[in-house]
Amino acid sequence: MSESSELKRVVLVGFMGAGKSAVGRRTATRLGWQFVDVDAQIEAQAGKSIAQIFRTEGEPAFREIEHRITLDLLQQSEVVISTGGGWPVRDDRMGQLPDGTLSVWLVVDAAAAVARGNRWPGTRPLLNDPNPMQRARQLLAERTPEYSRAELHLETHGASPAVLAGRIVHYIRGQEH
Ligand code: S3P
Repeated sequence: MSESSELKRVVLVGFMGAGKSAVGRRTATRLGWQFVDVDAQIEAQAGKSIAQIFRTEGEPAFREIEHRITLDLLQQSEVVISTGGGWPVRDDRMGQLPDGTLSVWLVVDAAAAVARGNRWPGTRPLLNDPNPMQRARQLLAERTPEYSRAELHLETHGASPAVLAGRIVHYIRGQEH
């Protein structure tokens, strides 16, 4: 976020299973802001699950809906947005965040992402692969350069969503003057 602009929104980015929704919800509560999970918005608007969208319409159609919804949310104020894990990695999205946006990267490794994905089988189509670990490592390696452009980086290993939300709020308070 640039020094002079007032904070209007927080955008959480990071790989699948990083805990973006859980941390986002708690951060919004702490700030007294609205929380929006982009994946949930997509499912509500499309009237089907993300796995179904991937299956019936394909990934490019999913990316189009994701882009449209996220772009709209990025115009709103007093909102914490939890993005889908693939959103930041195309079209210089991290470079195009509007003024007043704090971007936060929730860092997770491939093993933790796959383990967390296994708790909700079938919900992460991109890890629906004969070798999910190899796929997760590959995707994470491709995406890390974009995730790492976020202003605040938080390691999620061993930290609860409440603790991570507390770190985000602490960071924001530290920026206020
Ligand atoms: C995706 C991540 C998912 C969801 C879709 C694609 C990705 O969101 O948007 O399955 O490309 O990494 P989460 O990061 O919330 O799991």
